[in-house]
Amino acid sequence: MNTLLTPPLAPLLTRLFNEAEAADAPLREQLAQSSPEGRAALMQRAQTDYRGFYGLTKEMYLPVSAETGRLLYLLVRATKARTIVEFGTSFGLSTLHLAAGLKDNGGGRLIGSEFEANKAARARQNLDAAGLAEFAEIREGDALESLARDLPEAVDLLLLDGAKVLYPRILSLVEPNLRPGALVLADNADHNPEFLAYIRRPENGYLSVPFAEDVELFMKL
Ligand SMILES: C[S@@+](CC[C@H](N)C(=O)[O-])C[C@H]1O[C@@H](n2cnc3c(N)ncnc32)[C@H](O)[C@@H]1O
Repeated sequence: MNTLLTPPLAPLLTRLFNEAEAADAPLREQLAQSSPEGRAALMQRAQTDYRGFYGLTKEMYLPVSAETGRLLYLLVRATKARTIVEFGTSFGLSTLHLAAGLKDNGGGRLIGSEFEANKAARARQNLDAAGLAEFAEIREGDALESLARDLPEAVDLLLLDGAKVLYPRILSLVEPNLRPGALVLADNADHNPEFLAYIRRPENGYLSVPFAEDVELFMKL
């Protein structure tokens, strides 16, 4: 049995990635047409005013790539993960891959986080449509608060995909619950060079490898 490659999830993912392509086109075009200074200003806003930045993009999906989604599913299956925490759920494209992995592992629990209410609602709808709602709980509100409580005692996998400036703080919230050998996947971690430098130093407790152009994968030692 494979949930990822069969209905209802497979056609749902195809539709959602197509919708994301269309919905996110204005941002891509804006970035492509901006001067280097304009791009830097937008990226700066994402650092200094992440609520404002994500408020501007609340109709956009901003999903992980299809390849990263597949990588997430594969990591969940290969490690037999049962407990997953996700920072930054949006419409739930990554969540669907992770929850599918849990289902195919025989069950488990995913805690997602999203502060845009419309996005959390859409993520829940998508999980429902995929028959995966029982594996995922989407916590609404700032993850700095929602992931500061009631985490599983041992977390097998953490996805970092919310505001990049918060990666260090979210990691330190979840860190006490990460079991040795737990995996962390950080999307677009290159937007936070200090964080990348930190997790690449083994004395900080992780073994890290750049996995693709936009993904850093690391393991708790
Ligand atoms: C890049 S998108 C996530 C995409 C999602 N992982 C996917 O693959 O579909 C980042 C999301 O994180 C949310 N976000 C950013 N910072 C957050 C925070 N501090 N707490 C909760 N949600 C946050 C944004 O609203 C946005 O929807």
